[in-house]
Amino acid sequence: MRSKLRQQATFVKQFGSRFETTGSLIPSSRFLARAITRYVQQRDDAAIRVLECGPGTGPFTDRIVRLLTPGDAYHLVELNEHFVEVLHERFAHEPHWQQAAEMSEIYQLPLQDFEPKEKYDFIISGLPHVNFPTAMVEAITAAYFNLLKPGGMLSYFEYMYVRPIRKMVTLGSDRQRIREVNTVMERHISGHRVRRESILLNVPPAWVQHLQSDVTS
Ligand SMILES: C[S@@+](CC[C@H](N)C(=O)[O-])C[C@H]1O[C@@H](n2cnc3c(N)ncnc32)[C@H](O)[C@@H]1O
Repeated sequence: MRSKLRQQATFVKQFGSRFETTGSLIPSSRFLARAITRYVQQRDDAAIRVLECGPGTGPFTDRIVRLLTPGDAYHLVELNEHFVEVLHERFAHEPHWQQAAEMSEIYQLPLQDFEPKEKYDFIISGLPHVNFPTAMVEAITAAYFNLLKPGGMLSYFEYMYVRPIRKMVTLGSDRQRIREVNTVMERHISGHRVRRESILLNVPPAWVQHLQSDVTS
């Protein structure tokens, strides 16, 4: 079994070689994992469809697999082949993951290219939006809402004050990009947010944003 330490080492290595898409130096904490999966935890007995975007080494997955019951569907979309390998190993060897293995599928591709046959009740995203070009953030946020059922919940995190701080300290064309990304994110937040949580026990501290798609969409 790949130990926690080896998972962390894989993460640090990917941060070094693929900073833009990895987005953080270490995996998220269990406190962040609890908060971001809050609405999945509040599910009722009906079967649910869950999509996780950018699971990395699986800190949120480790929580989600415990909340699934037979009949559910759980899809994971991850770009990085090294993380995909870690996820396959965890589904093969860790007891809670094994229990959810039959209803789970891992797709190695960018979220913006993912075209599933059915929509989802819950989307949990770990994507580092603030690192991406504006057009990609537009594509990703559009994908989230296309992929959600009416009334479905999107939960994602961002590091506290990173957007406002980077907006102030960044220079040149990147400053313009940060401004635009900020505008895109704020537009979605203001139209759809149901709750924001502050998670201090994470490195760095983070906000979890919970957004709900329109019930009539
Ligand atoms: C900040 S890490 C989060 C990993 C994990 N969820 C956590 O919280 O520790 C971002 C993850 O998103 C993945 N990623 C980045 N861009 C992506 C994209 N366009 N589609 C799918 N996955 C992507 C990265 O490879 C990485 O695993």
